Amino acid sequence: MTHSTPLSPLKTGLIGCGDFSAFLGRYIQEVADITAVCDIRPDAANAVADTLGGGPTVYTDFRKMFTEADLEAVFITAANFVHAEIAIAAAESGLHVFCEKAMARTVEECWAMVHACEKAQVKLMVGHKRRLRPSWSRMIELTADDQLGKPLSATVTQYADMRPYNYPGTWWSDAAFSGGSYAVLGVHVIDWFAAMFGPAQRVSAINGPTIDEDYRYPTIHHATIQFSSGGIASINTSFHYPIHKFREAQGPMVQCEHGGLKLVPQMEHLDLYYQRLNELEPQHERFMIADDFDPAYRREVGDFVQWVRGEIADPCLTWREGLRCVETMQAFYQSADQQGAWVDLPLTPVAAN
Ligand SMILES: NC(=O)c1ccc[n+]([C@@H]2O[C@H](COP(=O)([O-])OP(=O)(O)OC[C@H]3O[C@@H](n4cnc5c(N)ncnc54)[C@H](O)[C@@H]3O)[C@@H](O)[C@H]2O)c1
Repeated sequence: MTHSTPLSPLKTGLIGCGDFSAFLGRYIQEVADITAVCDIRPDAANAVADTLGGGPTVYTDFRKMFTEADLEAVFITAANFVHAEIAIAAAESGLHVFCEKAMARTVEECWAMVHACEKAQVKLMVGHKRRLRPSWSRMIELTADDQLGKPLSATVTQYADMRPYNYPGTWWSDAAFSGGSYAVLGVHVIDWFAAMFGPAQRVSAINGPTIDEDYRYPTIHHATIQFSSGGIASINTSFHYPIHKFREAQGPMVQCEHGGLKLVPQMEHLDLYYQRLNELEPQHERFMIADDFDPAYRREVGDFVQWVRGEIADPCLTWREGLRCVETMQAFYQSADQQGAWVDLPLTPVAAN
């Protein structure tokens, strides 16, 4: 009889200790050790270290952390404007990288991350959990041939009241730091569109009037994507719609070959309705918010750890989804700058170096 030696937990570092980091940290700790945490704000880093427990070493300089800490991989939950810088430095230190969405601010930054990770032969994954949530993955499942069939068109109106999020005055409210309005409200849906329809072929977008000078970018947008499959999708965004809070917006309607579906999100649950053209009534499934996030975060973090360890070859996500999502957002802004002119995808990749 042979006995296999259990592997010791993967040693990881968590960089960026703001609102989201401890939340993701809990899922990381289910499958790996967080041996170090880092934030330029020492209070934030110490608070996350206390919340997570386990005595991680606290750093305020990620380069020092990469040099001194005994790490195999990093999770980046820092602000968007430092994703590329941190990921490249991690790769150059031989560390595998899990980076939160949005992957970076621009396609150029994304490619620089990819090239650095390829050169160092480390793995790079971007966290896009929306497509993995049971409610949203169920919609993709329903587009099987024997269900509703191929998706033809989709629309998502995410008119939301963003006041509870207090973004004005923070990095979120400046496109140069966040990547603009779609990086705030839209990135998840744009990635889900890609999971639903496949590659995007071209986009057209326009801005609405500016009504809030606290955001240093337009906060009302309408955009259309045409996919290589021929399918079309629209995503219409506003930060100033008082009826919906953030999580109540974003419910897609999808027309498929043999029927259609509609997701109606509420704060506590999401109702999914779908009906084939030959059925008299829609079917209904309810997803509780409390159960809709754990499986998605567990899957992406779990797959990353297994991928790094060589236990799986095909993780649920890599950098590709992150890059294509940033590319679509950047193409939206380019189109809006040209009053809605079509912008073809992919945008020209930037060469290495
Ligand atoms: N997947 C999801 O569901 C999800 C949810 C929320 C946030 N996010 C992503 O997580 C990231 C963080 O979001 P947040 O809401 O926690 O933002 P936040 O502003 O609360 O936190 C960002 C942190 O990054 C830190 N930081 C900035 N520069 C740094 C540097 N050079 N080194 C180390 N730390 C640095 C800041 O001090 C701050 O504490 C964003 O990219 C966001 O898009 C993902």
